Amino acid sequence: MDKGEEYHVLKGIDLEMRETEFFALMGPSGSGKSTLLNIIGGLIPASSGSVNIDESELADLTDNELTEIRRNKVGWCFQDFNLIDNLSALENVVLAMNLAGKRGSDVEQRGKELLEAVGLGDRIHHLPDALSGGQQQRVAIARSLANNPTIILADEPTGNLDSQTGKEIIDLFKQLANSGKTILMVSHDIALAHAAQKVFILRNGRVEEETDANKEEL
Ligand SMILES: Nc1ncnc2c1ncn2[C@@H]1O[C@H](COP(=O)(O)OP(=O)(O)O)[C@@H](O)[C@H]1O
Ligand SMILES: [Mg+2]
Repeated sequence: MDKGEEYHVLKGIDLEMRETEFFALMGPSGSGKSTLLNIIGGLIPASSGSVNIDESELADLTDNELTEIRRNKVGWCFQDFNLIDNLSALENVVLAMNLAGKRGSDVEQRGKELLEAVGLGDRIHHLPDALSGGQQQRVAIARSLANNPTIILADEPTGNLDSQTGKEIIDLFKQLANSGKTILMVSHDIALAHAAQKVFILRNGRVEEETDANKEEL
């Protein structure tokens, strides 16, 4: 591709997600799933179109306002967990709050509560290395919740987990959706994706809702 030439990965995408909704996004490798998550999360700007989180239109925000949204409205989970190796589970969660300018004993207390809520109350001082993959993803989920986001974007969060552990992580996302979060999860695993309320397929730059007719083609 020549320098400066635009390559349109995503076209005509129209998605509306509400509180308490849990969506899965599937699609072939390279179809733009991560790109779409990065746009929704305000990490990269869309070359056209609009993204709104709560009342904010991302394209209209100043850099500071956008940073604020990224910190406080969006939580992320990744395939490889992205924990900081030399920080304990609790310190990883607390760091996310520190980065959003929150400090003090409340922050530590909240970190403990979040880790308890994801079933890791007895592992808060463990380093990531001393935790299983599923436990590390639970820490990452606790961290994603640290600043009480509106939406959680999870990019293949079960990709490194065995199917039983993956299912447990999905159950946790379901529980979070029930408690009022919006979850958008990329998954290659058809069985896990079907635990979501709605499955979207991204193909040739467009998102369609999964139907019986298109589900076999992936
Ligand atoms: N920063 C970038 N600059 C140019 N092309 C990119 C960039 N990031 C991803 N792409 C391309 O965009 C397409 C979609 O990538 P990606 O969103 O990572 O797909 P997926 O997550 O579905 O596998 C791919 O063709 C990829 O090579
Ligand atoms: Mg990807």
